[in-house]
Amino acid sequence: MIKILTIVGARPQLIKASAISRAINQKFSDSIHEILLHTGQHYDVNMSAVFIEELGLPQPTINLEVGSASHATQTARMMEGIEKAIFNYQPNVVLVYGDTNSTCAGALAAAKLQVPVVHIEAGLRSFNKKMPEEVNRIVTDHVSTLLFSPTEIGFDNLVKEGFNRNSVSPHSASNPKIYHCGDIMYDNSLYFAQSASERSKIKKRIGLSDGGYILSTVHRPSNTDIASNLIEIVEGLLSIARNGDPIVAPLHPRMEKAIRQNLPKELYDKLTSADNIHLIPPVSYLEMVELEKGAKMIITDSGGVQKEAFFFQKPCIVLREETEWVELVENGNSKLAGPDSKKIEDAYDEFTHKTEFNYPPFYGTGQTAEFICAEIIKQLG
Ligand code: UD1
Ligand code: UDP
Repeated sequence: MIKILTIVGARPQLIKASAISRAINQKFSDSIHEILLHTGQHYDVNMSAVFIEELGLPQPTINLEVGSASHATQTARMMEGIEKAIFNYQPNVVLVYGDTNSTCAGALAAAKLQVPVVHIEAGLRSFNKKMPEEVNRIVTDHVSTLLFSPTEIGFDNLVKEGFNRNSVSPHSASNPKIYHCGDIMYDNSLYFAQSASERSKIKKRIGLSDGGYILSTVHRPSNTDIASNLIEIVEGLLSIARNGDPIVAPLHPRMEKAIRQNLPKELYDKLTSADNIHLIPPVSYLEMVELEKGAKMIITDSGGVQKEAFFFQKPCIVLREETEWVELVENGNSKLAGPDSKKIEDAYDEFTHKTEFNYPPFYGTGQTAEFICAEIIKQLG
């Protein structure tokens, strides 16, 4: 029996963890024992507990309750707690997802204790080190033992950084193994698409009709915390709404705070009083999937939502200058608009008139979680 300590903390990690936990429950419960550690990076009910309940995750065995803080303070508190958990539970493997401070804290704490790190979503790069996530990804990848990249481009990034594509077992942090394996978020989208429609009544509650609204999320510090960027984004959204398409925007807490603090009063009033802009609290995963499935278009700076737009075959305007999901831009499914109202409006016009889209199988077949579990057992069991 292999004992895995899984580190989660931010909303998307709870969602990703549900894919692996489901695979363990369904196929690998004889050989994998998973212990869930929640760092407490996200803590509001609608940023954390709602996902544990809705996606059938086990209650975390450990919750460090670190909460919000500056990067170093938050990461250090997490590392202290994770180190204690590693001493207490003696896992064979520490598993981390994505690129948040929780990811980096888990990887560093484990690597220093010579516990093999498994990184899911390895190899992704924006090549912009102003993003805290870029720093977290690079650090995490370079102390990991098994690196699972969802995309071919991510795999190639690792090779360019010196990882050996043909490394042979036994693997360790000094002799890591890299994979191109597909995306566990695609597993989830396939698995939950049907029940989202059956269980979520969100479109009816808000009064949205299929294909007749835009879904938008914003949470990157460069968009929320730099007032000039936030103003550009809000002006872009207001202009689209004025032209007729309603917008629904579940507000990440960082965005909710930012519109109050960083927008001029007149613009704040326009945004919050517009009839066809629905600013709502963060929604559950099933509600989000339901909103994505019904949208005409998606406007976001979220990593996960960019991909889900593709999974549900919606064009996506990306509120960033660059993206880790390069294949979506190259294939014409996404368009980079940055925090620029003119580019947002132009992308909206272009996508409104574009009819030819195609959806190559960039992200696997929906069975990535099973593949990852089997490889963990094979390589580290
Ligand atoms: C974090 C991740 C980011 C990921 C995002 C997913 C880092 C550096 N960033 O960004 O990569 O895309 O999660 O959503 O790890 N807050 C609340 N309630 C909560 C959580 C946060 O009010 O439950 C507020 C606090 O004011 C906090 C702010 O949101 O300061 C930002 O939270 P934080 O976890 O630091 O970063 P995110 O922007 O959520
Ligand atoms: N999500 C959600 N409710 C929301 C907004 C997003 O369930 O109100 C989901 C979304 O469907 C995706 C994930 O959260 O699966 C993306 O997380 P987020 O945008 O917070 O972070 P990122 O992917 O950018 O790291």
